[in-house]
Amino acid sequence: MKITFYGHSCFGIQINDVNLLVDPFITPNAKASSIDINNIEADYILLTHAHNDHTADVMDIAKRTEAVIISNFEIVTHYKNLGLEGHPMNHGGKWDFEFGTVKYVNAVHSSSFSDGSYGGNPGGFVLEGERKNIYIAGDTALTYDMKLIPLQTKLDLAILPIGDDFTMGIDDAIIASDFVECDKVLGCHYDTFGYIEIDHEEAKRKFFEKDKDLMLLEIGEHIEL
Ligand code: NI
Ligand code: MN
Repeated sequence: MKITFYGHSCFGIQINDVNLLVDPFITPNAKASSIDINNIEADYILLTHAHNDHTADVMDIAKRTEAVIISNFEIVTHYKNLGLEGHPMNHGGKWDFEFGTVKYVNAVHSSSFSDGSYGGNPGGFVLEGERKNIYIAGDTALTYDMKLIPLQTKLDLAILPIGDDFTMGIDDAIIASDFVECDKVLGCHYDTFGYIEIDHEEAKRKFFEKDKDLMLLEIGEHIEL
C-alpha cells in the first residue's frame, strides 16, 4: 500500500494496481500548487463528507478518470445527479471492493455542500486492504465510537486530523490513537488555513512522549505500508 499526501486531507492510496483518492482539495489549496490534478490517477474517490475542503476537485478528477465515488448516500446521490459514478454507503455499513473492504464509520462533525445543501452525515473509513488496514478518520471530534474500530480491525495506520478548531487537535488525536489502538498516526487537516496552523515539532514531541509516531508528510511525499 502506497499513500501519497496531496495536502490538507487529500491522499492517494495505491493498493496493487488500484488507485484510491481521498477528499480531493488541491486546486484551491495554495500550499498544494506543486500538484497537478491532471496527473492524479483515480479508480475510486472516497469522500468523508461534503465540505468544500474535501470535495473541491471531485468533478474535474472524476470526469477525467471516470472514478467511482464512495461516500454516504446523500453525497453519492449528489454526484450521480451530476453524471458521475458512485457507490453509496451509510454509517456502519461495509462493502467488499476489488481493492479491499471499506466500512463507513462515525465522525462527529457536519457535512454540507458549499451552496449549503445537505451532504448527509459526515463519516470516516476503515479500509482493510490486501495486507494492511488503515483508518481514515475524516473531520471529526474525538469520540468514544472510535473504540469500536479495534474490536474488528487491527489497524496498521490511523490518518487523523490534528489541526484543532474544526476537528480534533493534537491532544485529542493522541487519545484517539489510544481508542483505535494504533500508535502509528499520519496527520492531516493542519496548516492549510489560519485556524489550523500547528507547531510541527511540538506535535511530534507530544506523540513521541506517549510512545507514538506522528508522521507529517510534505505535499507530494509518500509512504509505503
Ligand atoms: Ni469539514
Ligand atoms: Mn475540513
